Amino acid sequence: MKAVQFSEYGGPEVLHVVEVDKPHAGPGQVRIAVRAVGVNPSDWKRRAGLYRDFEEVTFPSGVGVEASGVVDEVGSSVSNVSVGDAVFGHGDNAVAQYAVLTHWAHKPDDVSFEVAGGLPVVCETALRALDEVGVKSGETLLVSGAAGGIGSAVLQFARLRGIIVIGTASVQNHDYLRGLGAIPTTYGPGLAERVRKLAPGGVGAALDIAGSGIVPELIEIVGDPSHVLSVADFSAPQYGAKFSYGPPKDLERVLADVARLCSEGLFHLRVEQTFPLEQTREAQEVSAKGHVTGKLVIAVA
Ligand SMILES: NC(=O)c1ccc[n+]([C@@H]2O[C@H](COP(=O)([O-])OP(=O)(O)OC[C@H]3O[C@@H](n4cnc5c(N)ncnc54)[C@H](OP(=O)(O)O)[C@@H]3O)[C@@H](O)[C@H]2O)c1
Repeated sequence: MKAVQFSEYGGPEVLHVVEVDKPHAGPGQVRIAVRAVGVNPSDWKRRAGLYRDFEEVTFPSGVGVEASGVVDEVGSSVSNVSVGDAVFGHGDNAVAQYAVLTHWAHKPDDVSFEVAGGLPVVCETALRALDEVGVKSGETLLVSGAAGGIGSAVLQFARLRGIIVIGTASVQNHDYLRGLGAIPTTYGPGLAERVRKLAPGGVGAALDIAGSGIVPELIEIVGDPSHVLSVADFSAPQYGAKFSYGPPKDLERVLADVARLCSEGLFHLRVEQTFPLEQTREAQEVSAKGHVTGKLVIAVA
C-alpha cells in the first residue's frame, strides 16, 4: 500500500510517498481502508523534530494520528464493529491507504468521511481544555486562536454549555467566529482594552490555543492564573497558568458524543482545504503557516 513516511527530521522535503506492507489490527484494534486523515500542527512539529526532547520517533516514521475509513480487519476482543462499517477515530501512521485505529466510533451516514477524519483531535482537545480551565455556564471565556481547528471546536462546545465566548482572529475570520456563536476581536496590541469594552463585567477564564506567547497578558485580563490554560505554550506553568497535554481522555465517549452532535446539526467542522495523499508536504506547509480556518484534511483514494 501507499503511505507517507519520513526517515529523518527536517522540512517538508523529508516526507516521501512509499510502498509498504499493510499494517494488521492487533487486539482491541481495527484496520480501516483510509478515506480521510486530519492534518494537525503536531504532524509538522513532530516531523521537524520539535518534540524530540520528550517523544521518541522510530524511523522510518509514518504521519497522521486520526482518520476515517471503512473497517476491513477486526482485531481480537473487538465486538462493537464489523468489516464494512464506516468509522472515524485515533491511530498512528494514518496517512496511508490502510491504517490501524486504536479508538473509534461509527461515522454517521450524514457526516462526510472528510469531516469525520478531522474531528478526533480537535474535539478531544477542545473538551479537555474547557473542562480543565474551569469555566461555567453564564461566564465569559476569552479564546486566543479561535478560528483554527481547536478554536472552532471550543467555540461550539462552549455555546452548547451556555458559556459566552470572546474569540480572537484576524478580521477576515470575524464572520466565521460570529457564525460559531462567538464575539470576535482581533489579536495583537490593545487586546486587554478591547476585551474590557466587550465584557465590562470581566472574563472568567481564558484559553491560549494559538501559543503566541500571550499567557501573561491573558492572566492580567482574567485576574487569576488558575483560570488560564494553554494547549500550545509549554511555559504557561511558569506563570501559574495551566498547560494541558494528553494523554487524551475518554476517547471513545468523546467520539460517540461528537458523532451524535454532528448528526443532530449541533456541531460542524469546516474543512478549509482537502489534499490528496501525494500532497501531504503541501498540506503540512499550509498548516505550519498558522492561519488555517477550521481544518485541513488529506483525502485518500
Ligand atoms: N496540548 C494538546 O493536547 C494539543 C492537542 C492538539 C493540538 N495542540 C496545539 O494547539 C495549537 C492549535 O492547534 P490547531 O489545530 O487549532 O491549529 P490551527 O488550526 O493551525 O490554528 C490556526 C489558527 O491560529 C490563529 N492564529 C495564528 N496566529 C495567531 C495569534 N498570534 N493569535 C491568535 N490566533 C492566531 C489563526 O487565526 P487567523 O488565521 O485569523 O490569524 C488560525 O485560525 C497547535 O500549537 C497544536 O500543536 C495541542
